[in-house]
Amino acid sequence: MNTRINDSEEGQGRGRASVLVGLFAVGLVACGDDVAGTETDAGADTTGDVSETSAGTGEPAGLSYWQDVAPIYFERCGGCHSEGGIAPFRLDTYADAVLWAEASRLATESRTMPPWLVTSDGSCGEFRDSKALSQEEIDTIAAWIAGGMLEGEQRDDLTIPQVDHLEGGESYMTPTFVPEPEGGVFAEFDEYRCFLIDPELEHDVFMTAYDVVPGNEALVHHVLAIPVDPTLDVGAGVTNLDVIEALDAESPDRDGWPCFGAAGDGVEVEGIPVTWAPGQGVVNFPEGTGYRVQEGDLLVVQIHYNMSDPEVLGQSDSTLVRMRFEDSVEREGFFELPDGFLESLFSGEPASLPAGQGSTKFTWEMQMDGYLQWLGLESLDVYGVFPHMHEFGRKIQMRVDHGDGQGPQCAADVQSWDFDWQLYYFYEEPLTLGPGSSLEVTCDFNTEGLSEPLTPGWGTTNEMCLMGLFLVP
Ligand code: HEC
Repeated sequence: MNTRINDSEEGQGRGRASVLVGLFAVGLVACGDDVAGTETDAGADTTGDVSETSAGTGEPAGLSYWQDVAPIYFERCGGCHSEGGIAPFRLDTYADAVLWAEASRLATESRTMPPWLVTSDGSCGEFRDSKALSQEEIDTIAAWIAGGMLEGEQRDDLTIPQVDHLEGGESYMTPTFVPEPEGGVFAEFDEYRCFLIDPELEHDVFMTAYDVVPGNEALVHHVLAIPVDPTLDVGAGVTNLDVIEALDAESPDRDGWPCFGAAGDGVEVEGIPVTWAPGQGVVNFPEGTGYRVQEGDLLVVQIHYNMSDPEVLGQSDSTLVRMRFEDSVEREGFFELPDGFLESLFSGEPASLPAGQGSTKFTWEMQMDGYLQWLGLESLDVYGVFPHMHEFGRKIQMRVDHGDGQGPQCAADVQSWDFDWQLYYFYEEPLTLGPGSSLEVTCDFNTEGLSEPLTPGWGTTNEMCLMGLFLVP
């Protein structure tokens, strides 16, 4: 397998691709023969009839890379799968696309690529700025492969879309940092690192937009930015700042501290307003809303560095996080991080799930009446959701019962959970939670690899069943 991948004409693809060999060996073996066969076929067939798809007959033959597939790949994959991108191989050349064809068919059909975890076909919530492929795009990729992966006439008018950047705003830089793989099953090629930044706010402000510009696109897999109240007592007279300083002191020769969880073990967090993945561009909070960052708050920036390409080892990164602050907003939003699984830790009866199961589920509910009363509100609008589990997670779904007799309605659904993509998903239209309404969240875990029951916690070997919510009164 190594040989085949290293045969790739594209030098850049090499190191990265070989890393994935173990993972995709089956797919590649399966398409290996086809690939060899097709390159010649393609050469012979393509000249005349590349763009003629035999519509009507349902025959997929005739679709070509450059005419049919490349426009999709450049637009929808190119932000990551191109030279210097975070993805481990390219899709913007014919040779690479052929090499990764079968894997790409599987990844697009199962909707694991492009990374956009929530179901976006309208069956379970409608989300803004969806990155999900349309069924037609998925079918085009499959049909191109079924039709023999013709190359078609190479074109140079395709470009990888440039993401827009936030104009103005406050800019914060993380220190120049050389990540090192942490090792172990869950971070073999990865390091999760948190950095502390003092925004030096002289009064409370409202975040209404943000943007992240990675210093080294080949390293930065995701970024979270989390305002933290340093004076908050996290128990026994210990403050958030004490926890952070202790974490930071563990590795005095390196900037920051390890943080697989939000801001690091024991740091108490009220909301995660900034979630970023490559290609995302500027995020504007829903019209008229903003998130309060308090005077005195510090910012913890969590960066997930990925080093599956050995070429990036030893390289450094310094990432820019930009935020737009306003002095007031029409409606102040806030985050709630409900997780019935994690909260069971404090109930005296911590939940636990059986080991050795391909699928084992945990469901928790939240009745809105008490919560609304506690907040002194009639109703609340859910503007966005942040599904979150760790590495044993398979699926997570939220259902909302509006208390109107219609029963629970699907409101957010992740069919293939992937820890690597931590994102907020904003609704096209907010969901209103009024009196009598409730939320129900079900997480599905795979515990096959475990010999001990799975328990809640913030570490890699524990689990969470969190449905973060961006709420606006
Ligand atoms: C936001 C960045 C990003 C976008 C956009 C993206 N990918 Fe990926 N892709 C990755 C990364 C990073 C990996 C490496 C595995 C991981 O970290 O999930 C990957 C892995 C893959 C893999 C390996 C198998 C797998 O499922 O992990 C395939 C195949 C793939 N991508 C195809 C595509 C296709 C096809 C598109 C566009 C339709 C696409 N990707 C869009 C970042 C991206």
